[in-house]
Order: sequence, then structure tokens, then C-alpha cells
Amino acid sequence: MARPNKTTLIQAAAHARQFAVAPYSKFLVGAALLTRQGEIITGANVESASYGLTCCAERVALFKALTAGAKDFVAIAVVTRLAGGAMPCGACRQLLAEYAPQAKVYVADSAALKRIREFRVITLLPGAFDGSALR
Ligand code: THU
Repeated sequence: MARPNKTTLIQAAAHARQFAVAPYSKFLVGAALLTRQGEIITGANVESASYGLTCCAERVALFKALTAGAKDFVAIAVVTRLAGGAMPCGACRQLLAEYAPQAKVYVADSAALKRIREFRVITLLPGAFDGSALR
């Protein structure tokens, strides 16, 4: 099968968005990570009645992927219903900088999936704490 491109990754994120658990904000977000081997791992945001425990779609996808043994992430797509799409929050940028530093970030509005904005993890969090001093 052909290696997924940004369009298929965005579609995977849009599909994952259906499974967001966001009863408080109603802001449904889907994410899809792509590995160098061509595997796609998806996630969606999960909210808590204790609001601060909420986990973004990007981190759900990343935690799923890492704990399934996936690595070498080349891209992540994020889809939500917002003009231009939503950018990853600071917490997600930190985790992505640690575990997917080379990844591209594709962002799209669920109502306009063909309009994909593109970024790089390293440019979204310049000077990130990389934890190397702790290893
Ligand atoms: N959220 C994400 O899942 N990813 C983002 O990039 C932005 C924010 C979620 C967290 C919360 O469930 C809801 O969107 C509103 O902030």
C-alpha cells in the first residue's frame, strides 16, 4: 500500500475526531501520527469533570503510539472545527518536541479538510527542554 501522505493523515485525524470525549467544551479534536514505517496511530481529546485532567488529542495519540511500541514519527495531523484548524497547545508541543522532534504538523478545519496548514515541531517550540540532562 502507498505510504500515507498529508491528505490521508488529515483524513485519519478527521475520522478519529468522531471519538472525542468532550462533553464540557464540545470542542472535538482528532489527531493522527505517522511513523517512518507508514503506520498511523490516532487519538482524540478526552475531557474530565475535573477540567484540568483533560488530555488533548495530540497527547492521546502520542501516548497510544509510544505505549504500543511505535517510534520514528514523521508527522502528526490535527483536525477540529475551527477556521484554519487549531494549533497544538504548549503541553503537547513539549511532548512532541521530546518524542517527535522531526515531525511535521498538519492542521486543518474539519469543514475544509483540503486546506492544510503545515508546520514543524521544532519550529513550534524553539529551545525546548529536551530532557537529555536527565537521561
Ligand atoms: N484540545 C486538543 O485536543 N488539542 C488542541 O490542539 C487544542 C485543544 C482540546 C482540549 C480540550 O478538550 C478542548 O480541546 C478545549 O480546549
